[in-house]
Amino acid sequence: MSTSLPLHPLEKKLLVSLAEKVKPGESIDFDKASEYSELSPDQLRRAIEWLKAKNYLSVKEESVPIYSLGNEGLRVAKEGFPERRLVNLLKAKGGNCTFSEIFMAFGNESSIALGKAKDNKWVAAAGHKISLASPEIAKGVEELLVEKIASSGSISESNLLAAEKETLASLTKRYRGLVVSKVEKKQRIELTAAGRGASSTKNVEEIDALTPQVLSTGEWKSKPLRPIDVTSPVPAVFPGKRHPIRLFIQEVREAFVSLGFEEIIGPISQTALWNFDALFIPQQHPSREMQDTFYISGLKADLSNFGEEMNAVSASHENGKGTGSLGWRYNWSEDEASRVVLRTHTTAVTIRYLAEKKPEEARVFTIGRVFRNEKPNFKHSPEFFQIEGVTVGPNLNVRNLIWIISKFYSKLGFNNIKFWPTYFPYTEPSLQTMVYLESAQKWMELGGMGVFRPEVTIPLGVKNSVLAWGLGLDRLVMLRYDVKDVRDLFGANLGWLRHLKTK
Ligand code: PHE
Repeated sequence: MSTSLPLHPLEKKLLVSLAEKVKPGESIDFDKASEYSELSPDQLRRAIEWLKAKNYLSVKEESVPIYSLGNEGLRVAKEGFPERRLVNLLKAKGGNCTFSEIFMAFGNESSIALGKAKDNKWVAAAGHKISLASPEIAKGVEELLVEKIASSGSISESNLLAAEKETLASLTKRYRGLVVSKVEKKQRIELTAAGRGASSTKNVEEIDALTPQVLSTGEWKSKPLRPIDVTSPVPAVFPGKRHPIRLFIQEVREAFVSLGFEEIIGPISQTALWNFDALFIPQQHPSREMQDTFYISGLKADLSNFGEEMNAVSASHENGKGTGSLGWRYNWSEDEASRVVLRTHTTAVTIRYLAEKKPEEARVFTIGRVFRNEKPNFKHSPEFFQIEGVTVGPNLNVRNLIWIISKFYSKLGFNNIKFWPTYFPYTEPSLQTMVYLESAQKWMELGGMGVFRPEVTIPLGVKNSVLAWGLGLDRLVMLRYDVKDVRDLFGANLGWLRHLKTK
């Protein structure tokens, strides 16, 4: 018998209470151990693990069937067994009735009700007449058992008497769905001989964790280290982590930065001037309408700071002045341009940057939320992210644009992409990019791009060519993590967020 291993106060408490209250060779379950030791479940769990590692306790897993009432059982608990309902009928009729009266009340349950009531000697039959055996019929074993299970919701097999187990077996045969069972794993705890002997050991302080302090003070030399069972079960811990969208945004950032781009940011609400007019989008354009765009009601911006740009933009719309174009040929309205919108695209951010800096060369990008008045469904959300960027320089053309975008996607692991001609009021030529989905065997649209028209760049004082793009982000995240519905990306599905493997 070893008495040399030190004990933590929790271990000591458990060991002493078990040595006192549990006979040698007997085992108890977790609840009993908690009752005897007066330890909280968490303390108890730790004490058990520690004592197990010291070989003072043995723990066995036991499978215990647990019974509860099924649908049929719940009905019986409420309405009674057919034989009980027959007794009630007879009582109501003064103790006697005919078989046809029973049949009227019980239909195809009649013979079960009668057969069982006769077996129980609750009723007697003489010819067509059925009568109650005595004025009061005491509850039968089956009824008592159903009551017992119903009163506690569920009952473990170990809490059933031998006779009850028999009744249960015959009942489950008689009624399908009366009682349902499931198996629960339970721990049985038993003191080992060594543990019983050690219960008189004095408490000694042990070292739980090797901290720098424990090492530097030399404390480790004078006190024993607690043995740890690294295979013992522990509660699952879900530490905070970054949302998959945030992680993906970080990847996008790194991809552009590695291509020599710089990040810029801009406000979420913008004047129509920057969201639409500066991009040569005519004021009658359908995308400006309320069913597509969220306007901030009752709010107009003061555009006097942008007098110069505004005059140039207005001339470009009205007659194309200085751009070699005829413009859209209508009367441009400052009032319309001063309306405030939730930006419908992040192009509002890059165009404002160009107007302010008028760079001869530039490589910038921005990632941000945009808003469109759309009905939400599995594919569309009224707000989503865009990855926007521009490259400014002399002699840039659409081939350079295709190279940049292809390079960007390949950095994110999307290699099978292609380009397709399309239309935007502010670019010429205009392209859209699509990615091939192996899983769905189809092409999916990812975003738009093009070379800004002179009607856009010249009024703002940008001399060189500008390659521009605005790409969707949410769909890429959906592809990466196999999410089928955009709404799931922003939901509070903690299970998904906790178990998602991100890199
Ligand atoms: N703004 C366009 C969109 O939201 C994308 C785009 C940006 C197209 C820049 C051309 C140039 O779809």
